[in-house]
Amino acid sequence: MNNISELISLLGGTGFVAEKLEIKSSAVSNWRKLNKIPKNKLNAILSLSSQLNINTEDFFPNKYLDNFNILLIICGGIASYKSLEIIRLIKKTNINLDVVITKSAQKFITPLLVTSLNEKKCYTDLFSVEDETKMNHIMLARKPDFILVAPATANIMAKLANGIADDLASTILLASFSQIILAPSMNPIMWSNLATQENYKKLIERGVEFIEPDVGDMACGESGTGRFPDPKIIFNQVISNMIKRKTTTNQFKDVSIIITAGPTIEDIDPVRFISNRSSGKQGFAIASELSKRGAKVTLITGPVNIPFPKCANIIRVKTAQEMFEKTISQLPADILICSAAIADWKLIPETFTQNKLDQKNKIKKTDQELYFKTVKNPDILATVAKSNLRPNMVIGFSAETNNVIKNAKIKLVSKKIDLIVANEVGENKVFGKDFNKVFLIDKHNCEEWCQQSKKSVASNLADKINKIFNTTNNRDTYA
Ligand SMILES: Cc1cc2nc3c(=O)[nH]c(=O)nc-3n(C[C@H](O)[C@H](O)[C@H](O)COP(=O)(O)O)c2cc1C
Repeated sequence: MNNISELISLLGGTGFVAEKLEIKSSAVSNWRKLNKIPKNKLNAILSLSSQLNINTEDFFPNKYLDNFNILLIICGGIASYKSLEIIRLIKKTNINLDVVITKSAQKFITPLLVTSLNEKKCYTDLFSVEDETKMNHIMLARKPDFILVAPATANIMAKLANGIADDLASTILLASFSQIILAPSMNPIMWSNLATQENYKKLIERGVEFIEPDVGDMACGESGTGRFPDPKIIFNQVISNMIKRKTTTNQFKDVSIIITAGPTIEDIDPVRFISNRSSGKQGFAIASELSKRGAKVTLITGPVNIPFPKCANIIRVKTAQEMFEKTISQLPADILICSAAIADWKLIPETFTQNKLDQKNKIKKTDQELYFKTVKNPDILATVAKSNLRPNMVIGFSAETNNVIKNAKIKLVSKKIDLIVANEVGENKVFGKDFNKVFLIDKHNCEEWCQQSKKSVASNLADKINKIFNTTNNRDTYA
C-alpha cells in the first residue's frame, strides 16, 4: 500500500493540493506526516485525482471502506471474464463482496472460478432451497450499499427497465433499495438500438447510474460504442462513488434548490421558432448531484432530448416567459442555479406595410421583405437576485464566445449574483457535449477548472456550494 505523501506528490505536491482544495499548505503537510486524509477532504482528493487521471487504487484508506457491501452481478457478455479482475480488486479492500452470475454468464465463466476468487459462495439460482434458507434473494437485494452489474447485457437492461424478474439477478435488482450501477457492454448496434437506448433513458430517469461503455474495436470485429471499460476504471468509479455517497449524503438535507436548465424556444409562428444549442446536460447533472446529496431540487427545464434526472420536482417549460413565471412561482428557495440558456429575445415578424404579422398562423412568403423586431425576454437571474425573495445563494451560468472572464464578471456584478460558472461555447465546444471547461467566478476570485465531464463539474460545483452555503448558514457539513 502506497502512502498519502506519495499520493500528494503525484497530485502535484503540497502547495498545489492546498491551493486546489483552498486550504493551508500546513494542513496538507500534516496529512503527509500522519499518512491520513481527513474524511471531509477525501472527496476533493478523489475529484482532483480523477481530474488529473491519477489512479488512486493503491491509496484508498481501507478504513473508509469498512462495513461496505457490494453485490456484483455478472451477466452473459463477452466481457464477463473481465469482471474477475473487478473481484480481485475489490478483494484487496475491506469491502464485503457477494457475487451473482446469470445463467448466460455461466457459459463464459464458472461459479467455481468466482467462488475461488471471492472465497465465498457464488449465487446463481433463484429457486435454490439451500440459498433460500441461508441467504435468500431478498437478503441479497437488501444487504448491499451498491449493486454493480458488470458487464450489464442489453437483456438485463431491458428486464430492469420493464420490471421483469425471471431469474436471481433480475429479481434482486427489482427488490433492492440500493444504488444500482450498470456497466453495459455489447455490440455497438445492440447499444445504439432504439430499444436499448429507450431502456437506458428510462433507467437513468429512475436513478440508476451508468459507467458508460467505451468506444473502440469490439471482440466481434465491429467497432463503435459498446466496449467494456478497463476493470480498474470501473473499480475506481465505484469506490469514489461509494466514498462520495458516504461523505455527502444529507449534505443538503432540507435545502430547497431551484435549477433551470436547457434551452427555451420562442415561436415565430406555429411552424418556425428560434432557440439555441443548449442540451440541458450540465444543468441536469447538477440537479442529479444535488438531489443525491439530499437537496429538495426543483428542476425547471426547457425542451430537451436527454433523460431526466431523479429529483423532487420537474417542471417543463417552453418559452423564456414560462421559465420566468415558473421560477418565480417556486420561490422562496434557499439556492437558485440558473444554467438554462434562455432566449434573450422574442422575435416579432413584420413587413414595411404591416407592423405585426399574425403569428397564430403560418406566415406566408410574400414579395415584401420580412423583418424581425426583437422584444427582450425577462431576465430571471437579475430579477430574482434583486428581489426581496432572493435565495441565500444565486448562481448563474455565462456562455461566451470571447472575453469569457471579463463578460462573466460584468454579468456577476450587474445582476448582483454570488457565483458565476463561465464557459466558452465556440462552435462544437460545449453544447451537447459530455465535457466542459469552466471558470468559477465570484467577487474576489476566478478559478479555472480543467476540462472534465459535466458530471464532474456538477460534483465539484456541489462541493463548492456546500462550502459556501453550509458555512455561511452555519449548517453542519458531513459527519
Ligand atoms: C458469444 C456471445 C457473446 C455475447 N456477448 C454479449 C455482450 O457482450 N453483451 C450483451 O448484451 N449480450 C451478449 N450476448 C447475448 C447474451 O448472452 C444474451 O442476451 C443473454 O440472454 C444474456 O443473459 P443475461 O442478461 O441473463 O446474462 C452474447 C451472446 C453470445 C453467444
